[in-house]
Amino acid sequence: MKKKFKELEEKIAEAKLGGGEERIKSQHKKGKLTARERIHFLLDEGSFEEIGMFVTHRSVEFGLDRQKFLGDGVVTGYGTVNGRSVYVFAQDFTVFGGSLAEAHAEKICRIMDLAMQNGAPVIGLNDSGGARIQEGVVSLGGYADIFYRNTLASGVIPQISAIMGPCAGGAVYSPALTDFILMVENTSYMFVTGPNVVKTVTHEEVTSEELGGASTHSSKSGVTHFSCANGLECIAHIKKLLSYVPQNCEEEAPAVPYEKPESEARPKLNDIIPDNPNQPYDMKEVIEAVVDDGTFFEVHKNFAENIVVGFARLAGKSIGVVANNPAFLAGVLDIHSSAKGARFVRFCDAFNIPLLVFEDVPGFLPGTDQEWNGIITNGAKLLYAFSEATVPRITVITRKAYGGAYDVMNSKHIGADMNYAWPTAEIAVMGPKGAVEIIFKGEKDLKKKEEEYTEHFANPYRAAERGYVDEVIIPEQTREKLIKAYKMLETKAAKLPRKKHGNIPL
Ligand code: HXC
Repeated sequence: MKKKFKELEEKIAEAKLGGGEERIKSQHKKGKLTARERIHFLLDEGSFEEIGMFVTHRSVEFGLDRQKFLGDGVVTGYGTVNGRSVYVFAQDFTVFGGSLAEAHAEKICRIMDLAMQNGAPVIGLNDSGGARIQEGVVSLGGYADIFYRNTLASGVIPQISAIMGPCAGGAVYSPALTDFILMVENTSYMFVTGPNVVKTVTHEEVTSEELGGASTHSSKSGVTHFSCANGLECIAHIKKLLSYVPQNCEEEAPAVPYEKPESEARPKLNDIIPDNPNQPYDMKEVIEAVVDDGTFFEVHKNFAENIVVGFARLAGKSIGVVANNPAFLAGVLDIHSSAKGARFVRFCDAFNIPLLVFEDVPGFLPGTDQEWNGIITNGAKLLYAFSEATVPRITVITRKAYGGAYDVMNSKHIGADMNYAWPTAEIAVMGPKGAVEIIFKGEKDLKKKEEEYTEHFANPYRAAERGYVDEVIIPEQTREKLIKAYKMLETKAAKLPRKKHGNIPL
């Protein structure tokens, strides 16, 4: 009997070594953690239960029958993060470079199926050379099995992908189908084809880092939502992200206890808007002053900075914030900011997270670049996303709400539940200068006309007269008003017309 127990212990020890000590050393030398170390830091102490530790591949091609590693290059299982159930897979770069093939894919699918069945998030820690070349089409099939599950799970359970090493070829598409991607600076990259193929096809010379590093994808392409300094920071970000989201689409995000203070007034807000309406200010200051102290967790920080999106807490409850930021491109809506905002709105709506919008937007960005690249379709994404969102939604207009952007930014007309405006709000078809140049074309003394227009339209009262704005409030009252309004909306029951699914302009 003892011999049999010993045999099991030896097998476990072998599995835990993955591709062996040398390769583990090489992983550490690159500044990377191993798959098991990553899981250890992610999950609550002692909570990890591994599934499929002894799974191996069944391939015999290219000498693979002589190279078998217990676990087949991916560690899979379940555990808890801050006491809440999660399912996890971590690719082991020390085994065939974390490459994915039949058995490896089956292990990931099993985890995903369990997560769906039991309604808990899936976290993928990716570190993979892509499809395992020796297993051929079976590897491609394995990827497709995962993509299919990613798509079915979308909107049902939160899916988070951390890119903690190379992710080439098929390895990038599963993360791309999930809700959030995090990358580690300097040790991770994502691309469909690497620098060598790029050079052959387009004659461009580019490094891996330039082509698909964390900085590239967090600022230029927007593929990744978080760029993290190292593996541990990446894991800390995953945990923080999880704290704002529910286990699945049937549940609400966990709230933290909140004790109501004597006053919720935030006098700081009264001094943020500059006297000159063309002067920028940082909308993040507004967000941070309104939400619970230190709870704003920005998503997509370095991409399309003219719109800010992120999670926060208001009186202890999780909310999703979407805000124009006049500090970048005057807060204008363009292709990237529209798509960024839309994706975030849809995540929040899918997972019952109420939306809060801060609006200061001069309109859509004009120009050939924007028109030729589809600002119409992309702007429509944001319009569509807000319009179909059934979670409680509130807008605060701090300054400009001009043109189509007024409609798009969660206006009452497209289903917002409550809209507030500060006295500094300007709600009109366009800014005073542009407006008088059109209305009084060819006339002299436009300065006076501009003053008249400003007096008449550059304020929140025309909109308030119509009920498009529910209340004009002093900025310092904002937090208290929002807390009360979200409480009032807690029992909101809204339904979309029955349909198979909508057709968002992609
Ligand atoms: C099998 C692989 C592998 C792969 C790496 N390895 N990628 N084995 N299939 N795809 C193995 C290596 O042979 C090596 O084995 C070990 O992993 C470590 O790899 P190194 O090259 O030594 O490491 P490094 O220098 O860090 O480079 C990592 C890498 C590189 C950038 C990922 O290995 C690489 O370019 N791999 C190929 C990437 C690729 O083209 N993948 C296919 C994509 S096509 P030993 O035994 O020496 O340790 C694809 C299609 C799917 O994915 C499409 C679905 C939509």
